[in-house]
Amino acid sequence: MKQSILFVCLGNICRSPLAEGIMLHLMKQNALDVKIDSAGTANYHVGEAPDRRTIKNAKMHGIDLAQLRARQLVENDLEEFDKIFVMDRKNYRDVMRLTNGKKSQSKIHLFLEFTENETHQEMPDPYYGDERDFEQMFLLSLKACTKLCNLLKTQHF
Ligand code: 4NP
Repeated sequence: MKQSILFVCLGNICRSPLAEGIMLHLMKQNALDVKIDSAGTANYHVGEAPDRRTIKNAKMHGIDLAQLRARQLVENDLEEFDKIFVMDRKNYRDVMRLTNGKKSQSKIHLFLEFTENETHQEMPDPYYGDERDFEQMFLLSLKACTKLCNLLKTQHF
């Protein structure tokens, strides 16, 4: 069956849609057929396009996020997706709270676990930051998505 990955942050307008957009790009580039989606634990921005600063930065790197729309995480996502990558520990706790069984709990991981980065185990939230924070988010996301893509290619996933 087709594998599936869900990225989760708070608002679904900065960190998780960027991860979704980069992964979609890498899946296409590598001809991999994996379902990719993203959601937020909060409902503040439901229906909105990603933050304009996220769109602008990603576009500079050749990734188009303009068509994505924010949605809120629902309980069914925990059943439906094989892997759920959360951006920070607060997301982790919020998603864990929605789980009712051990099976779905084992699907939930911190996204930056994949980068083996000593400095960043959590993806910094750029929402109240400046351009440098959006660039840092992009570089960290690209690194983690590239690793994830390599795992998918070798099936060590
Ligand atoms: P995200 O960033 O969780 O990466 O989408 C945020 C988006 C919105 C807010 C905070 C963080 N907010 O407070 O509205």
